Amino acid sequence: MSKSSVLFVCLGNICRSPTADGVFRQLVEQQSLADRILVDSCGTGSFHIGEKPDSRAIKAAAKRDYDLSTLRARQLKPEDFQAFDFILAMDRMNLGVLEAMKPADYHGHVSLFLDFSKQRTHKQVPDPYYEGDEGFELVLDLVEDASRGLLDTIQQRW
Ligand code: 4NP
Repeated sequence: MSKSSVLFVCLGNICRSPTADGVFRQLVEQQSLADRILVDSCGTGSFHIGEKPDSRAIKAAAKRDYDLSTLRARQLKPEDFQAFDFILAMDRMNLGVLEAMKPADYHGHVSLFLDFSKQRTHKQVPDPYYEGDEGFELVLDLVEDASRGLLDTIQQRW
């Protein structure tokens, strides 16, 4: 039985990547695939290690029935390239960090998360940290769309 593992990466691991983690995890659970797809998230930065997601991210996600409250921020580490076969960045800056850290013999998939999206207006998930509530709604819209595309791709590869 094929298995896959997905790591979502942003800067702080308190807004965008925990949202992707919670949304994609719920989709995986709804499809009864939790034993076949490992889901996690992390940040390239260290400033929020150990913290819960931003309260605005938790609240916006809860309104759509996603629970982010149990997640805790951690930083990207070299071993993540052994553990995950999809490592997906929320924006080009964080993709650059991944490309720089990626071992030469890594055979997984590193790209922007929105490469799996059907919408064509956004290539990156905009950082909502300094924005209002509508920034968090846009993150959810983009992440929900790309999550469906990602799951389709994973299942096609199996
Ligand atoms: P995230 O958002 O990368 O989506 O978690 C941010 C969270 C914190 C900061 C920047 C972005 N910060 O500068 O502390």
